Amino acid sequence: MDILLPKNSLLKEILLENNRSLILIISLMLLTGLVQATSVLGLMPIVDFVINQEESQHNEITQAVANQLSRLNIPVNILSLGILYLSLVLVRSTILALQKYITTRTIFKVMKQLIYGLYESFLYTSLAFFNTKQYGTLANTVVKETEKASIGFESLAQMIASSISLIFYFLLLLFLSWQLSLLILILTIILLSPSILLNKYVYKVRKKHTEASNLFQGKMYDTLNSLKLITGFSKREDTLREVQPSVNTVAKTSVQFTMVRVLFSLIAEPVSVFLVVFSILVGLNYLSMGISELIAFLYAINRLAVESQGVITQRNNIYASLPSFEQIQSLKYEAENSKESKEGKKITSFSKGIFIENLSFSYDNQEEVLSDINLKVPIGAMVALVGSSGSGKSTLIDLIMGFYLSQKGTLKIDNDFITKISLRDWRLLSGYIPQQPFLFNASIKDNLLWARKEATDSEIEQACRLANAEEFILDLKEKYNTLVGERGVRLSGGQAQRICLARALIKKPQLLILDEATSALDSHSELLIQDSIEKLTGETTIISIAHRLSTIKKATRIYHLDMGRIVEEGTFEELISSKDGFFRRTAELQGIV
Ligand SMILES: Nc1ncnc2c1ncn2[C@@H]1O[C@H](COP(=O)(O)OP(=O)(O)OP(=O)(O)O)[C@@H](O)[C@H]1O
Ligand SMILES: [Mg+2]
Repeated sequence: MDILLPKNSLLKEILLENNRSLILIISLMLLTGLVQATSVLGLMPIVDFVINQEESQHNEITQAVANQLSRLNIPVNILSLGILYLSLVLVRSTILALQKYITTRTIFKVMKQLIYGLYESFLYTSLAFFNTKQYGTLANTVVKETEKASIGFESLAQMIASSISLIFYFLLLLFLSWQLSLLILILTIILLSPSILLNKYVYKVRKKHTEASNLFQGKMYDTLNSLKLITGFSKREDTLREVQPSVNTVAKTSVQFTMVRVLFSLIAEPVSVFLVVFSILVGLNYLSMGISELIAFLYAINRLAVESQGVITQRNNIYASLPSFEQIQSLKYEAENSKESKEGKKITSFSKGIFIENLSFSYDNQEEVLSDINLKVPIGAMVALVGSSGSGKSTLIDLIMGFYLSQKGTLKIDNDFITKISLRDWRLLSGYIPQQPFLFNASIKDNLLWARKEATDSEIEQACRLANAEEFILDLKEKYNTLVGERGVRLSGGQAQRICLARALIKKPQLLILDEATSALDSHSELLIQDSIEKLTGETTIISIAHRLSTIKKATRIYHLDMGRIVEEGTFEELISSKDGFFRRTAELQGIV
């Protein structure tokens, strides 16, 4: 760890990015320090006038001020000196207020930059990034750690302010008595240096705090997402017990950190008293200082002790914020390292289809989840993917959507490799319905408009009709304005699925991807939707994953996946006629043949 400031590239980056504000703040701090020290000097003439009635006993400063006032034809008395002192204090307060305003504004700007920067890197990174991350850590970093880091930045600004004041007070002391000042300097360094050793301890305590906060947020996220499950498994007590250790650690480390701060403030008081008594003894007995000089000196010493304590406390605060800076930095770095390219050929449509050749893929670069896949989705066709659970159907869709990139083989949209086109454009062409339906906690209408904000009411109605959702929506009290609840909990599973389908259809996509989009529906509703979807073929290219084989009877081509390989392919009739094939057996089990 560095003697003056810890090394952290994010902190450095923030300092450089905000260098203009920082220079302004430091300039104002210099000014505040200067006015503050001058206002201490302003005390001296008042003391002289109160204590020493004879002019010959007046201090040099008092004489200089008196001369200046007389030259301006202002009577030199307690009143004028008092007004002068008050004006100095007022100027100091005004500059201080301005400095505080600019500092606070900069701190919140830093917080905004940190939050926004993280949010952006999380949004633009590839989905692979989230495979190894805990949502609790991510949420905690965005919400809590950015705040802690901003406080660290604030401490840095305050430390600079305190250091500047410290220098001014010390210069003032030097001016009043350089011999005593040097003694005070040596004493202060000896008395306060042990506290520097606490930086390491503070860093450790705060690292624990951050780790516990990550855990706690993770538990909180899991709990809120599985309340029904927790209740259904009678796991409320266990859940509460599980969250206890991390909450305890958060509380414990907070107490430890606060106690270190309290300790510092306790050190400052005796140090200050010791220095004051020491100065009185030395100043009066050995240096024969005047009363007004001594009072100014003592006042400055008191401020010196307060500011020294400030510097040490703020420095510790900076160390305390270091774990937050480190966590923000490492997550941001990782997210940006696996960032999706924003570049790529612009596309507004596709005209030939999707062509996959010899494609293999694994999530962790070890075991292949897809092996040697050859598959064509000609434009306007309806292609179906079937196969047992875990065979790699959703993964194949993920690759087609460009969520992951394959390690071997090629995936082309028309004549272009997927790696060469703009993925944003490609996804704008697609209507994707993931396997787990997700709705935002908003009205049905807003959930639909989310996909295409310029959609008209009649387009919304048409999409819902196609998704066989219109009937149940019109039965709801608030119709299209009904709130769906968090993740759509106020709808039935099948209702939510139909809204998800309508949300994809409202985009009028050129490619529709259905990952078991009708799995939660009764056979009758599923058939109705199937009918609507089949009507879209020709105009829309469709990829459909289905467990119920009856829904893919009309597919142009069916691919049967098993353990990541295509083991059968053909039309429904072709596959069904292959007597010992898996497809035929499944069809028999489902009572289709
Ligand atoms: N994010 C992931 N990281 C690592 N492995 C994964 C990930 N997602 C899926 N897998 C693995 O990849 C394999 C294929 O999963 P996939 O979700 O593609 O199956 P699926 O055919 O869609 O199954 P289902 O019919 O149950 O939806 C499985 O063995 C699964 O464990
Ligand atoms: Mg799946």
